Amino acid sequence: MSKMFYLTTPLYYVNAPPHIGHSYTEVAADALARYHRLAGRETFLLTGTDEHGQKIAQAAADAGKAPQAFVDEVGERFKALWAILNISHDDFIRTSEPRHVTAVQQLLTRLKDAGKLTRAEYQGWYCTPDETFWTEAELITHGISTSAPVCPTCQRSLEPAKEEGWYLKLRANQEWLRGFVRAHPDFVRPQTRYNELLGWLAQPLPEYLCITRPKARVSWGIQVPFAPDHVVYVWFDALLNYITAPGYVSDPARFASLWPAEVHLVGKDILRHHALYWPIMLHELGLPDAQMPKIFAHGWWRIGEQKMSKSLGNIVDPAAVVGGLLKGQPFAADAYRYFLLREIPFGQDGSFSEEAILKRLNMDLGNDVGNLVNRTLSMTERYFGGQLPFQPIGQLNVIGGARAMADAAIALQASYAQRMESLDFSGALEGVMGLATQANQFIETSAPWKLAKQPEARAQLTQVFAALGDGLKALSVYLTPVMPSVGAAIWTQLGLPGRPRRLEDAAWSVSAGERRIAAEHPVLFPRMEAVA
Ligand code: MSP
Repeated sequence: MSKMFYLTTPLYYVNAPPHIGHSYTEVAADALARYHRLAGRETFLLTGTDEHGQKIAQAAADAGKAPQAFVDEVGERFKALWAILNISHDDFIRTSEPRHVTAVQQLLTRLKDAGKLTRAEYQGWYCTPDETFWTEAELITHGISTSAPVCPTCQRSLEPAKEEGWYLKLRANQEWLRGFVRAHPDFVRPQTRYNELLGWLAQPLPEYLCITRPKARVSWGIQVPFAPDHVVYVWFDALLNYITAPGYVSDPARFASLWPAEVHLVGKDILRHHALYWPIMLHELGLPDAQMPKIFAHGWWRIGEQKMSKSLGNIVDPAAVVGGLLKGQPFAADAYRYFLLREIPFGQDGSFSEEAILKRLNMDLGNDVGNLVNRTLSMTERYFGGQLPFQPIGQLNVIGGARAMADAAIALQASYAQRMESLDFSGALEGVMGLATQANQFIETSAPWKLAKQPEARAQLTQVFAALGDGLKALSVYLTPVMPSVGAAIWTQLGLPGRPRRLEDAAWSVSAGERRIAAEHPVLFPRMEAVA
């Protein structure tokens, strides 16, 4: 089996239903997976849910439910949302599944037997929401007073705690990790996050990471096979999913066809776990440097200018956006996906508002794409009886702009591919929208409604529509990773069979002869009134 393009999302905590932040990582991962499939690569997208730990046990207790019943229920909300958003994952792993639990236990035992774990007892402080144990020395490194200590990550107050358990060596691996990171400038993207990682590595790391929790404090977790009173620390358990799902323990051949991950997509808040702990875990398990994954850490959505939080009551439910705000839109899920990836450059923070979504819908999608498709196809009906004309590209007129139109559609392929490969979704979409704008301008300057009135201009009119046909087909291909249903709808409206399957589909002339466009070409993006 040849190596597949393997990419992952974080495993979402099922302590509460999914929100826009979760859907952001997921939609980005899906668009990237669809792009790589379109580019002809065997691709594997892994997603799932993180179901253990104190936070989830607490949420289950608050809901008056047993933890397993609770995570089953909330987990379904994630699956249902991914169905609404048309996520094409190849596997969905839940950390409470036996395939994961047994693999984690085996890996722990392997580490212990190899002498990689240390048993010890530490006096320190615990952050319950973050499930993180801090020693006094670490708090001091972060400039935090130990008389009324707060969590260095989330600033909430800490509880005194004595942590007895099993520890993974961090400091002892720091030199290795620093060397690895320096030698692999693409280990973490974007550059700002890579620099952040270098900054962390310039300071001494904590000596150890405690990877077990006493059951007295946290009972909802994976049983540590060699310590009856302990469960596995939730992050240690969850990170391992990236290798348990592809079969590191159970199916080495399958694992070899997937690992290492080409990219772990994560939010910037969980970079530390992915860029410090995870490579050290893999290194301790004995994976060589060439088997280290790569990471991309994206930015965060604010709601207007506020942080999204339960206490502010401003949590955005993507299902409500798609089924409520965008109700009546034939391609509501695609419009939502487009908004997420177009609105802010991937890697930066941004602000979510209903106005901003409707603006993108009416302007980019309605005015530019929808209008272009609609007018081109209506005029094809009117002037050509629905037969979209064909001209080999070499015979398209230079004068009049037909050749330039078709060339632009083809030329976009290189920059589009380069941007998608580097996860520059907003840049890629900007280029695609540029093509739509160019096509609309081409219609204005060539004024088919005038040409249609002049019998001697028939050849020129044919040229214009042959070039527009190429432009629309390219548009449908390039839109497909981010807007799969819209890409397929444009393709079908053009009268093409199936749906866009290959990036190269953008670069051939619409048909070897005339093509009958679809009899029906309903409006793709009906205009919506701005929210009051
Ligand atoms: N369970 C851990 C991940 C374990 S991975 C082995 C976790 N889960 S989470 O549900 O809290 O977050 C999952 C993802 O959602 C993260 O990538 C996080 O960055 C993203 N987002 C959560 N809120 C967000 C925003 N407001 N904006 C953008 N993404 C954010 O962390």
